Amino acid sequence: MINIAVLGYGTVGSGVVDVINTNKDIVNKKSGQEINIKYVLDLREFPGDPVMDILTHDYNDILNDPEVEVVAEVMGGVNPAYTFVKSALEAGKSVCTSNKELVAKHGPELIKIAKEHNRNFFFEASVGGGIPIIRPLNTSITADDVMEITGILNGTTNYILTKMSKEGLDFDTVLKEAQDLGYAERNPSADVDGFDACRKIAILTSLAYGKHVDFEDIYTEGITKITDTDFKYANILGTSVKLFGSAVKQDDKYYAYVAPVMIGNNHPLYAVNDVFNAIMVKGNVLGPVMFYGSGAGKLPTASAVVSDIVDAIKHLNDNVEVEWTEEKLSLTDFNESVKKFFVRVKATTELADVQNIFGQVEKIEAGVDGEYAFITDAMSEADFNSKVENLEGFITRIRVQD
Ligand code: HSE
Repeated sequence: MINIAVLGYGTVGSGVVDVINTNKDIVNKKSGQEINIKYVLDLREFPGDPVMDILTHDYNDILNDPEVEVVAEVMGGVNPAYTFVKSALEAGKSVCTSNKELVAKHGPELIKIAKEHNRNFFFEASVGGGIPIIRPLNTSITADDVMEITGILNGTTNYILTKMSKEGLDFDTVLKEAQDLGYAERNPSADVDGFDACRKIAILTSLAYGKHVDFEDIYTEGITKITDTDFKYANILGTSVKLFGSAVKQDDKYYAYVAPVMIGNNHPLYAVNDVFNAIMVKGNVLGPVMFYGSGAGKLPTASAVVSDIVDAIKHLNDNVEVEWTEEKLSLTDFNESVKKFFVRVKATTELADVQNIFGQVEKIEAGVDGEYAFITDAMSEADFNSKVENLEGFITRIRVQD
């Protein structure tokens, strides 16, 4: 028998307990041991819930119990998760976490401590919910120079954009639905302003290149400026708008961003809807591969945490090497990044004036009163920003990727 502890009995924590109970025979067989949840840590009480028998409010009960071999940290947030996880690793326990904020900020340090103690720090559930992507990047895609990672990395925003696009629902109504379904972060700004996707692309990029990408260096724009009017144009054009997290290696430069992007129906991420996430990884010899599945939600995320617990048990006194050092990976200024732009302008703006600035663009009309749109050729962010300063009647812009 092997004893584990679960830190946090919220959406994911209760999912972890459910998955271990529901799939008891399977996870015991796969890990080669009977998994016993000895403690669940939470500040709250859960009257009537079987977890009450193993509930503790004091983390020291877990830290100081040498019988606890594996800790699942599913509380979220950097503090006190960081203190708890660090002390657990230093006490010689393996840790599995779904906490992307923690991993993006302290990943390399925690990986190093786990290695020093011949234990493991696993974080499969920190990116893409239930999608296996961390383990494939760490152990499968090792023969390639990764040229690009582009993903729909946030379930809440993909759910919102899909409902806005297909059902014409307004932003606030759909956000409330996503919260009720357990997809959204406690502070939904983390989802809708792109911060959650930013941490996730920082984690994936760090793993792909083995050096630390500081999430604060990544240009990040959320979906709060996307409206149903944008989708009227997208529908006419046969395109969609998705929140991308992307990292590209080009001529030994690294570019990364999070932003809404208009994509055509032949783009591999076009059909990724609702709470689903997908990550496309392009290797220089492998070409593109795709990972697809539920990007948020109690059971899919818990499934990834429990798969880490199984792996931690299989490698109890055997550190699985994770190449992610504290050395920083420098990102190139986002202003140098090149894209096409979809631009909406007021109807009072003469097309000739637009063409004077942007060249021979075509007028796009979607039956929206008082405005029209156009799509530019590819240009740098800096170039676009300086041109748009001279554009009378500018309403908004969305980056375009073919
Ligand atoms: N709020 C996150 C999302 C949860 O919507 O993707 C999973 O990380």
